[in-house]
Amino acid sequence: MIRGSDLGILKEKLAEARAVTVLTGAGISADSGVPTFRGVDGLWRNYRAEDLATPEAFERDPRLVWEWYNWRRELLAAKQPNSAHEAVAELERRYEQFWLITQNVDGLHRAAGSRKLSEIHGSIWMVRCTACGSIEDNRDVPIAILPTCRDCNGLLRPHIVWFGESLFPEDLTQCASALQACDVLIVIGTSGVVYPAAGFASMAKEAGAFVAEINLDTTPQSDLVDLSIQGRAKDVVPLLLL
Ligand code: OAD
Repeated sequence: MIRGSDLGILKEKLAEARAVTVLTGAGISADSGVPTFRGVDGLWRNYRAEDLATPEAFERDPRLVWEWYNWRRELLAAKQPNSAHEAVAELERRYEQFWLITQNVDGLHRAAGSRKLSEIHGSIWMVRCTACGSIEDNRDVPIAILPTCRDCNGLLRPHIVWFGESLFPEDLTQCASALQACDVLIVIGTSGVVYPAAGFASMAKEAGAFVAEINLDTTPQSDLVDLSIQGRAKDVVPLLLL
C-alpha cells in the first residue's frame, strides 16, 4: 500500500536535503525481471550459495561456478533498467551531493545513467585475475568456461564479492562518507540481512539522516527506519521526482 501522506513526508525531506544517499538491493531490479535472492523464486531458494558464491566453491570447482555465472549473464544480458533505476539516475542529477550504493551486480544502474555509485558486491560484467589481480570489463555472453587473463594467462574469476569475502576497501571508505554526510537515505528493495550493507541504515540514522525504506514487504529494518513505504520500486521511486 502506497500512502500519499508517506510519500509526501519523504518528498518534503528530499526538498530540504542537500545530500542524498540511496542504497539498493535486488528488489529494484525485480521489476526488470531479474530474480531476487530470497523471494519466492529467489536464487538462494533454488541454489546453495556455498556451492556457487564462495571462494571455496571456486577453488573446488571453477567450471561449475563459471557455468552458473554464464547462466546469469545470459539472463541479465536481455534485461533493461526500469523506471526506478531511471528515477535514481535522475536523483543523482538533482543533487550536488549524491551517492548510490548498490548491492546489485547486474549493471542496470549504470545502464540507466547512474555514475556516482559504488557497486559494493562487484559486477557480473567484470572479471578479475586470480594470479595478477588485474580487473577487466567483460560482456561476453557466454564467456569462455575457465577464461584466462590476457596479461598473465592466470585463471579469471567473476569480480564479485562472495560470501566470506570483504568489501573492496575503497568502497567501504566511500560508503562510510556517503552515509555520514547524507541528510536523507533511501533504502530500496533490499531484505537488509547481508552485512555490511544491512548496517548502513542504522549508520546513517545515527549520523542524523532521515532514513526511508521502499520495499514490497516489511523487512527486519522496517522498525528501525523513519519511514517504511510498501510498494513496487518501479511504481514508488518515480513518484519522488514529481
Ligand atoms: P534479497 O533477495 O535478499 O531481497 C530482495 C528484497 O526486495 C526483499 O526485501 C523483497 O521484499 C524486495 N522486493 C522484491 N521485489 C520488489 C519490488 N518490485 N519492489 C521493491 N522491493 C521488492 O536481495 P538483497 O537484499 O539485494 O549478494 O540481497 C543482498 C545480497 O544477498 C545480494 O547482493 C547477494 C545476495 O547473496 C551477492 O551476490 C554477493
